[in-house]
Amino acid sequence: MSKSLYFDDVLALPFIDHEKYQTLSSKISNYHDQLHQKTGTGSDFTGWIDLPANIGDQEIAHYRETSEILRSKGQTFVMLGIGGSYLGARSAIEIHQAMHAHKNHHIPEIFYAGQHLSAPELYALLNKLESKDVVLNVVSKSGSTLETRIAFENMYQWMQKKYSASELKERIIITTDASHGPLRALAQKEGYLSFPVPENIGGRYSLFTAVGLLPMAVMGINIQEMLDGARLAQQECSNSDNPAYRYALLRNTIQNKEWCIEVLATFEPCLYYLTEWWKQLFGESEGKNAKGLFPANLRYTTDLHSMGQYMQEGQRRIIETFLTIDRLPSAFDSMIDPESGAKIETVNKIAGQSTISAHAEGGLPCLHLRMKDASMHTLGYLYYFFMKACAMSGYMQELNPFNQPGVERYKHYLIKGLKKIENTES
Ligand code: PA5
Repeated sequence: MSKSLYFDDVLALPFIDHEKYQTLSSKISNYHDQLHQKTGTGSDFTGWIDLPANIGDQEIAHYRETSEILRSKGQTFVMLGIGGSYLGARSAIEIHQAMHAHKNHHIPEIFYAGQHLSAPELYALLNKLESKDVVLNVVSKSGSTLETRIAFENMYQWMQKKYSASELKERIIITTDASHGPLRALAQKEGYLSFPVPENIGGRYSLFTAVGLLPMAVMGINIQEMLDGARLAQQECSNSDNPAYRYALLRNTIQNKEWCIEVLATFEPCLYYLTEWWKQLFGESEGKNAKGLFPANLRYTTDLHSMGQYMQEGQRRIIETFLTIDRLPSAFDSMIDPESGAKIETVNKIAGQSTISAHAEGGLPCLHLRMKDASMHTLGYLYYFFMKACAMSGYMQELNPFNQPGVERYKHYLIKGLKKIENTES
């Protein structure tokens, strides 16, 4: 078992379908070979599997140098993107800011846009940015995603009024496909700094590419440390007997028509976006062919006062996976519960153990992932762990965990709707 992440499945064992367990266990080695030899379904998009070990020192240095230049240009960093082009970076940045920002006072403030179609939100953002010196990173593999495109075009017009053409070259960074799409064309035409999104890596598996590494570096994350953690996970998951596959096996041998939801429950607010990233990873990878656990997230202890009743006594359909942190940075040791004199961290841990005991007693299958600490090393390990688990879990359900044909359907109707407006208004 890894020192970075401990996986405890004892409380879920009574819910296992033993026949399914035997069948799936016997297939793991074959699925593992398919993933690694790139012979399985969706293998065109498995470039992330070997990625952490393949990123060289020069590439890391390039991200670091670029991030230093960008930080010197403006104390406000705006990241535009949606889904896999933003959730991974945001999740790591939120954790870093909450857990480690006290160590570094030179981190820019960050704003996110391009992940909705809300006019008031975009309006408010542009107002907030009015007096600030801005650096913008637009991230879109296709370069044509509507939400990101609209936010970018508005931001671009706004920046063109504020900065000269030569200044824009130092303030706009484009992360997109290496040769295709409108953002690549713009980068080439205007000479903007750009980074490629590898063709063989889909959005939700792209954290360890420029999609995640550049914004994380700008926001002060030690990307070397994070990649070291991911490399450790890559190494520890390189054969077919590993904790990521164990997690995939457990969730799949409990899953059936009744047990059809998985909640990822956390006890630190800053883990919220990590659970959002996890939701997208599993939701988009597995939700097809009328299969897949419905992934949801809960934020404890806050949600114990809203959803705790349901979790304890509502319909028994939910597999609950707890994600907790064994040890917070010592900076928070001074935060005390005045009545008991105990550290708040300790009180929170007792709340976690109590919740697990109560929900297990209430008849929920409970899985527990314990992060050793909140370091970027452990976090890097965790991201890779989930990606590997998700790929195996998809193969166990005999589906392609790397495509998202269902997302295209909504876009089809959206484009049709927009064409109608164009026709009416022209
Ligand atoms: O995981 C995925 O593939 C998606 O979530 C995409 O990242 C998302 O739709 C954004 O696409 P794009 O990067 O092309 O703007």
